[in-house]
Amino acid sequence: MADSQAPRATSNRSTTPGSDVFKDYISTQWAERPDEAVTPREQSAFALERRSRLSALHPGKRLVVPAGQTKVRSNDTDYPFRAHAAFSHLTGWGSDTVPGSVLVLEPTADGHEATLYFRASAGRDSDEFYANPEIGEFWIGPRPSLVQVGADLGLETRDLADFEAMVGVADADTLLVRDADPDLTRRVDALVDERPGSETLDTVADRAAASDTLTRDLSELRLVKDPFEIAEMRLAVAATQRGFDDVIADLPEVLAHPRGERLVEGTFNRRARADGNAVGYDTIAASGEHACILHWTRNDGTVSPGDLILIDAGIELDSLYTADITRTLPVSGRFSDVQRLVYDAVLEAADAAFAIVKPGIRFREIHATAMAVIAEKTAEWGFLPVSAAESIQPERQYHRRYMVHGTSHHLGLDVHDCAAARRDLYLDGVVEPGMVFTIEPGLYFQPDDLTVPEEFRGIGVRIEDDILVTADGAENLSIAIPRTAADVEDWVAGRR
Ligand code: GLY
Ligand code: MN
Repeated sequence: MADSQAPRATSNRSTTPGSDVFKDYISTQWAERPDEAVTPREQSAFALERRSRLSALHPGKRLVVPAGQTKVRSNDTDYPFRAHAAFSHLTGWGSDTVPGSVLVLEPTADGHEATLYFRASAGRDSDEFYANPEIGEFWIGPRPSLVQVGADLGLETRDLADFEAMVGVADADTLLVRDADPDLTRRVDALVDERPGSETLDTVADRAAASDTLTRDLSELRLVKDPFEIAEMRLAVAATQRGFDDVIADLPEVLAHPRGERLVEGTFNRRARADGNAVGYDTIAASGEHACILHWTRNDGTVSPGDLILIDAGIELDSLYTADITRTLPVSGRFSDVQRLVYDAVLEAADAAFAIVKPGIRFREIHATAMAVIAEKTAEWGFLPVSAAESIQPERQYHRRYMVHGTSHHLGLDVHDCAAARRDLYLDGVVEPGMVFTIEPGLYFQPDDLTVPEEFRGIGVRIEDDILVTADGAENLSIAIPRTAADVEDWVAGRR
């Protein structure tokens, strides 16, 4: 693949022997590697069904869904690779995805034919395996064979080199997930533009708009989860609960550490790794005033006695499904009166929102319901210049000063899943069985907010649960993680 990243100059320090004697020697005397018999992974049948639903939406179009490339962190080190969610959804390939892979749905008379292109294992006759630190198996591990992956995912597989030939035939009927692999997107655009007669083809902007419909459809396809996805979400939530339990157990060390927030993050992430998982987003460990910063991920603060610590964290499984859960804990074991007042108000908002969830409601009603409680409470405490009823008018919204974020987002392969879905199907959409989303109201009184009494300043509370819509209501998938004030106190005190 072409690579727009700066070349990784190592010739100034490379010690790789270049002699023919060495090359001949290292390329020989390796045992055969027979392809092990692989049975299809569970999600392959679900991925097949997802591909057929996508196919029906785009007859006659070639659909190109890249996994994406590794991203440079600095110089010659990369961030951990993570496949694009749409790619994982359609292939079932998760944390073991080979970077740079591309799924292509080629149009046929009655649908599409799917082919997965990836860079297969290089033979011992190339120097890649020992001399290429980016992709060589001596450096980052062996890649699976085409046969193995084909059997594992139930997909036709071909070498990535064949995809390069395919790029050359990209035309205006090629729809591409453009944000997955920006380099590939640029190359496809350039190829189409260079082609003789390209002046009759659409402009890049037109093609981008057409491709955006593919990206949108791939998001909307994920709004309702299938049984495999729901089972994974349950596992991700259970794994996240173990992480929270570990943090609670470590609170004495956290309190004694000058950067206790880091220890909270480390403990949660250690549980993720110990269980063979990852985290779905950077863990937020926000103690004291930091809890008023919605996405506090610097996590370099002290955790002091009497603080509330807000922990927003989620375990991501090998399948790449993630939980997204927030708990706010009194680190010394008891809420102060004012902390408890705020906590109970947020819990009431969360419970009120959960109570209305059932198929047929509008997604935005969940937020409106939580906000009505937030408005009532902040009005009751005398913080608003108007009544709660006036404040919830769209042109007023005084109470939103204390909770500027939304109450719910879809959850799945991405922590903010289905992000490209149309508003009609997302915020204004109708809730359906199988949807999974968060309910996460909060109250954040900034340390310098003159509209609230001093004892409220610097208190931040968020309670976030992961909700599955059922046939006639909803299930709180994270209900087993303590969430009432009394249960949270018991949890911290080790009574649970
Ligand atoms: N967990 C962070 C968020 O939902 O924005
Ligand atoms: Mn969230």
